[in-house]
Amino acid sequence: METKEAINKRVSVRHFLDKQITENELQTLLKAGSKAPIGMSKYQEMHITVIQDKNFLNELNKAAEGYFKQKGKRLFHGAPTGIIVSGKKTNYYDMEYDNGACILENIHLMATDLGLGAVYLKGVVAFFSDNPEYLKRLNIPKDFTILAGIAIGYPDKEYPPKDHNIEYNII
Ligand SMILES: Cc1cc2nc3c(=O)[nH]c(=O)nc-3n(C[C@H](O)[C@H](O)[C@H](O)COP(=O)(O)O)c2cc1C
Repeated sequence: METKEAINKRVSVRHFLDKQITENELQTLLKAGSKAPIGMSKYQEMHITVIQDKNFLNELNKAAEGYFKQKGKRLFHGAPTGIIVSGKKTNYYDMEYDNGACILENIHLMATDLGLGAVYLKGVVAFFSDNPEYLKRLNIPKDFTILAGIAIGYPDKEYPPKDHNIEYNII
């Protein structure tokens, strides 16, 4: 798939098949994340955590139901793979969040290219920040902050591209 096609086809998918992505697909996604631009090239100050353990995901889902007070709520929308990006706090206008977004968008576009479904998740930050017992189990490096996440799996159906518009001005 060409870059243009992947960008045009990317949508948020929140319903997944009960089937894990392949190791090869996971490695391709992680490589795409690692190729993201990172401010001041501080790649060693960013980290990616992959959650695929079914028992842990089930535990998180149960806890998420209570935390979000929403019956049936699942932390990663029921995806078999959840990815969390964390980073060391920078002294430069919260640049760690920009870095995290670059990594996650690369992963989302690569997921689209591979025919996988994905959705960017900020909600996981609130959940893990307010539930430190689960945050601890992510084993993120010391002094790193959780920035955002993404849910990934095979989509339950085909999702058509969307047409979004952001207003702009040219000076
Ligand atoms: C920074 C950011 C945070 C987001 N957080 C969530 C989230 O917590 N839960 C969720 O279901 N979708 C989340 N989304 C997905 C957006 O809702 C989605 O991208 C938007 O509605 C546009 O739809 P599309 O991605 O299908 O084009 C987030 C997207 C971004 C960029």
